[in-house]
Amino acid sequence: MKKIAIYPGTFDPITCGHLDILKRARTLFEKIIIAVNEDSPKESLFTVQERVELIKEVVKEYPGVEVESFRGLLVRYAERKGAHFIIRGLRAISDFEYEFQLNLMNRNLNPRIEIIYLMTSPEYSFLSSSIIKEVSRLQGEVSGLVPPPVLKKLKEKFNHLRR
Ligand code: COA
Repeated sequence: MKKIAIYPGTFDPITCGHLDILKRARTLFEKIIIAVNEDSPKESLFTVQERVELIKEVVKEYPGVEVESFRGLLVRYAERKGAHFIIRGLRAISDFEYEFQLNLMNRNLNPRIEIIYLMTSPEYSFLSSSIIKEVSRLQGEVSGLVPPPVLKKLKEKFNHLRR
């Protein structure tokens, strides 16, 4: 049985912290599907389509990594994809409570899908998509914290919004 994992999230936008988790997860799974949640309650800067395209650009050199968006329950999506694993990154203790709740509910919905947690590398443990957007909006430097295509897109977005 092929080891397929889903790496879900909002990815508004993808950061080097997400990429760090992805790179390490690639050593564990044969195929990883990065799945952008279409129903996120968070207000987003990038459209779902833009986020998917950006991630595709960032991971184009990574064999075995696919990018899609999904609607509805994550476990149902994983079932449709034949994935038995879900990957989540943990940055700090503060992530734990939310992840614990998500884990128990997902387990309740489908106990055969295992959720695997990877600790975010320390250099990215303070990162979030929101902090990247805030600093970019205020013209701060975020290179090294987001992949180059994201940096370019953030600059375009905020220059456009300032006009
Ligand atoms: N490095 C940097 N930042 C990271 C990170 C890492 N390794 N891991 C997470 N983050 C950040 C994200 O950028 C995001 O920041 P933001 O809040 O500023 O946008 C935040 O941590 C958490 O986001 P993310 O990992 O994208 O999760 P999420 O909470 O947005 O989405 C889903 C979680 C998609 C898995 C969940 O909402 C879901 O499954 N939805 C589908 C519906 C469903 O099944 N619901 C029932 C679930 S029990």
